[in-house]
Amino acid sequence: MNTIAEPVQLTVAGYRTFELGAFQFSRDEYFVTISWPAKGQRQSHTLSADAFLRALMRDVAWGFFYGVVNFDSVFGTRNLYGRVEFFAGRLNENYHRNGLSYVEVFDSPMAMKRIKEILADWVNEGFDPFAAPMETGDKAFGEKNGSNLAAIDRFRVATRRMPGLKGDSPLRGDENGYPINRAFADVPQDVPEIQAEPGFEGELHAFNLFAYLSRSDVTWNPSVTSVCKASLFCPTTEEYILPILHGNDRVEWFLQFSDEIMWNISDKETGRPRARVLMKAGDVAAMPADIAHQGFSKKRSMLLVWENANPGIVKMHETGELPPYPVTF
Ligand code: PHB
Ligand code: FE
Repeated sequence: MNTIAEPVQLTVAGYRTFELGAFQFSRDEYFVTISWPAKGQRQSHTLSADAFLRALMRDVAWGFFYGVVNFDSVFGTRNLYGRVEFFAGRLNENYHRNGLSYVEVFDSPMAMKRIKEILADWVNEGFDPFAAPMETGDKAFGEKNGSNLAAIDRFRVATRRMPGLKGDSPLRGDENGYPINRAFADVPQDVPEIQAEPGFEGELHAFNLFAYLSRSDVTWNPSVTSVCKASLFCPTTEEYILPILHGNDRVEWFLQFSDEIMWNISDKETGRPRARVLMKAGDVAAMPADIAHQGFSKKRSMLLVWENANPGIVKMHETGELPPYPVTF
């Protein structure tokens, strides 16, 4: 049974240092350093503070997501659905083969509590880990300077009914929603005309998904916009770099709605590069269940991520009952 050690009371540049099991996390003006035990001593790894905080924000907002959230080629988390594995070097074949990797499993609520504390302490005033760099600037850096709790308390928008129907989660696609993003100033805002049979008002609806997405105030944060059994449509707007290398535990489909995203695809277990895929508006791709991927979007673009939320599917891939690909040619 894991217990959370009380945070080490050490501070660096005004930032607290944290522990989770045998992992230790500290940050300074520019960097985050993570250390763990291996080969009888402590190994450490350093990454840029903004990249770390953007990735940590996704782990918090997405409840450790599906499968693996690699912060970079060394550190990350793997969702065991109820429990969560934190790892260093485990999915990097050179670290792992040389005995430098380390893995520890925690109950998810306990690990979540600790990473929320880290986020709350390390995100400065003015830095928004969901925003594109051109919108949030260099505010991630420097000595500790206040906080931005409003930005880090945002979660995935998950629809309860069709967006726009009464009782749905916050509507983005009208004048009560967020402003149109600077990158989508040319996106038409017209709305479909709805003519419901008497008695079906409030049951039938249609909305302009492009207009809805043009008002997204976040990047790389899919919202759940339609749910049909285990089939989730998760549209999102993307600018700069997906803050994680996502290691899939199921097949995901991508539908590129506007502009372009370049994807780096690597082997999920070893990190070895496997492919680069440039998706242009109108392209559709299936991301297999045995890869990790990271996207690069030079101009804010619209992407639909189609997820399979069937909880049994992970086992089916693990046992080989299902191949990692959705289609065998
Ligand atoms: C993904 O890992 O597939 C993913 C995550 C967030 C996004 C887009 C894609 O915004
Ligand atoms: Fe993914």
